[in-house]
Amino acid sequence: MKVLGIETSCDDTGIAIYDLSKGLLINELYSQKKIHANYGGIIPELASREHTRKIIVLLDKIFKKKNIMKEIDLIAYTAGPGLVGSLLVGATFACSLAFSLNIPVLPVNHMEAHLLSPMLEYKSIEFPFIALLVSGKHTQIIAAYKLGKYEILGNSLDDAAGEAFDKISKMLELKYPNGRELSNLAAKGIKNHFYFPRPMIHHSNLNFSFSGLKTFTSKVIKNSVLNMQQKANIARAFEDAVIDILLIKTKKALSQKGWNRLVIAGGVSANTLLRKRSQDMMKKCFNGKVFYSQLQFCTDNGAMIAYLGLLRCNEARTSSLEILVKPKWSIDSLSQILI
Ligand SMILES: Nc1ncnc2c1ncn2[C@@H]1O[C@H](COP(=O)(O)OP(=O)(O)OP(=O)(O)O)[C@@H](O)[C@H]1O
Ligand SMILES: [Mg+2]
Repeated sequence: MKVLGIETSCDDTGIAIYDLSKGLLINELYSQKKIHANYGGIIPELASREHTRKIIVLLDKIFKKKNIMKEIDLIAYTAGPGLVGSLLVGATFACSLAFSLNIPVLPVNHMEAHLLSPMLEYKSIEFPFIALLVSGKHTQIIAAYKLGKYEILGNSLDDAAGEAFDKISKMLELKYPNGRELSNLAAKGIKNHFYFPRPMIHHSNLNFSFSGLKTFTSKVIKNSVLNMQQKANIARAFEDAVIDILLIKTKKALSQKGWNRLVIAGGVSANTLLRKRSQDMMKKCFNGKVFYSQLQFCTDNGAMIAYLGLLRCNEARTSSLEILVKPKWSIDSLSQILI
């Protein structure tokens, strides 16, 4: 069985094909980052326009590499959460293509796709586990009981971790968007040159807040002589604070549940220090293991959508003219996956 996955929730157009027996056959991505960099943030109207321009180009590229259009059994697409215009492009395209090929189509949840993306490599991550979902718009701690059965234990009350990384990197005049640039710069910073606050770590709940940390960091930036070393010191203090906050809350969740498996997923899971420190924590405190994806599958991609499509293939509907998107679609409202 072959599933074509289409991802257009934000500013990345991703298309991939996942095969039940052979695994990932192809994975193509077109990133719009350079376009939005000119504006210092994502412009929704431009994002949907770019998806429209690039989605057919990508599909052509794929089927030129592998002539297997007729072998596709199912098309899965991101129906939400995300930007409505961007979602509509992927959804319309997926439903039209499925209709013309006379194959079923399946709307899938972007956050579940992120959460399960480490399974692209580790097929058998055992349930239950705690998932730390850290992306551009989400910071959530999730109890994953079974495939499809998730409970949100903690949520960001304001900015997402990735969003905070992006805003601070902009204040430090790094290229947009850039968690990764900020993290590379932080690696050159002097540890403990600054100490930034860690909001909400003493609260008994598992929620997060990053806006106070962001304001604190912006004040330090304004009051500093910004040579490269000082920028690196600020980046380091900011990154240390974010990772401390994420891991303190994650540790609480693992202890509360008495579990020793952790999945970190979403764009921020590409962060080298977060990966290393979560690995150390799992080994030292829980005699357990952390799972995360290859870097290319941490941020948005079609592979995770195709893979989730395969897992949920029993829910696919034969192609109709209905085009479904859900810009707000919480992961805890999903149905259990019956395989
Ligand atoms: N190495 C890194 N360190 C920290 N943050 C990073 C790193 N690499 C990427 N990011 C952040 O990951 C985010 C992008 O992740 P992702 O593509 O999962 O988000 P999104 O799709 O925009 O949001 P969502 O999935 O919540 O809808 C950006 O905010 C980016 O700064
Ligand atoms: Mg995403």
